[in-house]
Amino acid sequence: MSEMLKIGVLASGRGSNFQSIIDNIESGFIPAEIAVLISDKADAFAIERAKKHKIESLVINLKNFSNKDLFYAHIADELQKRGVELVVLAGFMRVVGKPLIERYNNKIMNIHPALLPSFPGLHGQKQAVDYGVKISGCTVHFVDEGVDTGPIIMQAAVPVYEDDTEDTLSERILKQEHRIFPLAIKLYAEGKITLTGGKVCIKSGRENGILINPPA
Ligand code: GRF
Repeated sequence: MSEMLKIGVLASGRGSNFQSIIDNIESGFIPAEIAVLISDKADAFAIERAKKHKIESLVINLKNFSNKDLFYAHIADELQKRGVELVVLAGFMRVVGKPLIERYNNKIMNIHPALLPSFPGLHGQKQAVDYGVKISGCTVHFVDEGVDTGPIIMQAAVPVYEDDTEDTLSERILKQEHRIFPLAIKLYAEGKITLTGGKVCIKSGRENGILINPPA
């Protein structure tokens, strides 16, 4: 059997996307293995999830470094030490610094809770509710130096209702996050995602990267 893709996950919080990736690996849907979970927060619930599934976890605290570049260089070192080939940001609440982006150029994926390029940055769901858009959703994209500006891999759309709050919309979007993030990682692991001229192409008969209310 050929070696499976090695994934490194970065998470800052509850880690429900991390859990959906674990579940989809354990079920055999994603042909990959998680080499390490790195968190910048010692109390992130994602760490408990890693322990439960016997995944190595590291806490790397920005406070222990004199600047952000050293912090990101250290994260990159730890990932490379373990042979990580794809870095997955699963609720990593920081703008990724250059040392990590350079070493994992177009090999870092993020999930954002809005239909980019609308509503980048924090609180994408609240931004959508406040603006009054009728459709929002989530986006899986490669990470570049900007804030949620990298090439878009996959998106899922959900309706936004007049009585939605940030919480109700977040819940609807999260269900789609848990579907398209594992799917994008699976397609990447299968070598079906290519990047040409800054645009992502998915070599697959079915998934074209745009899933509007995909079937359950
Ligand atoms: C998700 O809404 C994701 O889109 C955003 O951060 C949140 C992380 O949630 N990047 P979780 O930690 O995966 O539950």
